[in-house]
Order: sequence, then C-alpha cells, then structure tokens
Amino acid sequence: MLALFKAMASVPPNAALLEVSELSYAYDGRPAVCGISFDIRAGEIFGFLGPNGAGKTTTILCIAGLLGAWTGGIRMNGGDFAPFRRAADRARLGVVPQELALYEELTGRENLELFGRLYGLAGTALGAAVTRALALSGLEERAADLVKKYSGGMKRRLNLALGDLHRPGLLLLDEPTVGVDPQSRNHIFEALRGLRAEGRTILYTTHYMEEAQKLCDRVAVIHEGRIIGSGTAAELAQQVESPGATLEDVFLKLTGRKLRDE
Ligand SMILES: Nc1ncnc2c1ncn2[C@@H]1O[C@H](COP(=O)(O)OP(=O)(O)OP(=O)(O)O)[C@@H](O)[C@H]1O
Ligand SMILES: [Mg+2]
Repeated sequence: MLALFKAMASVPPNAALLEVSELSYAYDGRPAVCGISFDIRAGEIFGFLGPNGAGKTTTILCIAGLLGAWTGGIRMNGGDFAPFRRAADRARLGVVPQELALYEELTGRENLELFGRLYGLAGTALGAAVTRALALSGLEERAADLVKKYSGGMKRRLNLALGDLHRPGLLLLDEPTVGVDPQSRNHIFEALRGLRAEGRTILYTTHYMEEAQKLCDRVAVIHEGRIIGSGTAAELAQQVESPGATLEDVFLKLTGRKLRDE
C-alpha cells in the first residue's frame, strides 16, 4: 500500500492521472454514456457537470469497475487500469457514492472503524486513519453519537471521509453536497481544497454549476451522455464566445436549456 502511495505521489503535477477515451455504456441497450473522452490531471479537482440523467454516476461506476460491459479505454498513470480484477487498482481509488452508504445504528467512529477494516487497516494505522477522517469531516466532537442523530450535512461529511479513509490517489465524488446546509457545504469545500493541497486528485460530479466554478480547476460538461464542452471555466466561456460567462451561462448557451429545472 505504501509503495503504491509513493508511486501515486511521484506523478508530476499536470500529468494525466486518469485518461478516459471513447467510453460508452448502455443499460439493457439504452445508451447512458456515449463515447466520452476526458483526462484528469494529477493534483487537480476536476468537475464533471451535468443535469439529472446526464450520465455522471454511470461514468463513475465504469471508472470504479462497478459496471462491467463498457467499451472504450480507461487508463491510470499511462497504464492499464482494472479495479474490478485487481485489488491494487482498487486501492488507488476512493468512491463516495451519491446515495449515503452509512450504518445509522452505529456511531460515526464505529462506521469509520468498520470501513477502515474493510480496507485492510488495523491497529495504529486504523486509529490514525480514523482520527484523520474525523478531522477531515469535522466530526471529532460527534464521533461517539449514532449516525441516525446526525444532520444531513454531517452524514455527507462522514460519507466523504469514509471514501478517503485509505488515502486513495484518486477520489471519485458523486454529488457530495446534495441536500447539505451551507455550513456543511463550506466544510466539504475546505476539506477538498485541503486534500488538493496534499497533492490528491479529485473527480467531483455536481449539477451545481456555481460550486464547480468555485472549486474546480477544470471541468467537463456532460449532457445526454455526451461531453459538450471541457476546459477551465474561462476556456468554456471563450468556447461559447462569451467572455465572463458563468458555467451556468455556458450550459445554457451549449444546450439551450437551464441546468436545473427545480
Ligand atoms: N440501473 C439503471 N438501469 C437502467 N437505466 C439506468 C440505470 N441507472 C441509470 N440509468 C439511466 O442512465 C442514464 C444516466 O444516468 P446516471 O445515473 O448516470 O445520470 P446522472 O448524471 O448521475 O444523474 P443524476 O444527476 O440524476 O444522479 C439516465 O437516463 C438513467 O435513467
Ligand atoms: Mg448520479
């Protein structure tokens, strides 16, 4: 695990850590992701933006090896990447699912210990990981409370910390701020900026354009299974020939639709 970590840390900043090329996936013959290509550079927060049903979760599940029959290429560090088959590849990834995956009848600390053991941590390594995760989530004071007593925002923060327990090089976050109050949202943003400052790499999916604008170094906009624009926010504004446009404006220009109907 340590050797892997060192290998990840040695990726130069701005090199492509994850390369996705011509990725496609269909559910029972119904296309959900249609030939998308993008790369995520080492040390960046990469935003993956799109409305409901655009294909964000499907893309994450393909990268994580949780959906089998995709076509196209997924490479990590310039090499083959097969998390479904190889434990070493799984260890490089942290996945924070869109649906909360927590045990409500356990305390925050017990959840962290349980998942830590599933990642193969034990003894002092487990203790250190749990302490770090509690700090990352800002839940030190509430570690001994049952998760069912937590607010929605606290649960989201714990969900995030669970995905990061084994300190993966690449964190895949599926809408990590849905349904959270502004205080928890800011906490999550700060936590993610802290991880980036440590040199970690993050894929951040959201349908909140203003979040991506604040947090992400580069973004890809996905719509109906296709990437319709990518780059920095400023580059996207240029692509739609509207300097100063927000990502929300860019989405409207590219699709003729507002991002959110709610
Ligand atoms: N298990 C499934 N079976 C069949 N179709 C599915 C399944 N999961 C997703 N889909 C369909 O695939 C498409 C992409 O869905 P996906 O969940 O990847 O989108 P998303 O961008 O994550 O959306 P959301 O913002 O709602 O989470 C949608 O048309 C969706 O209805
Ligand atoms: Mg989704």
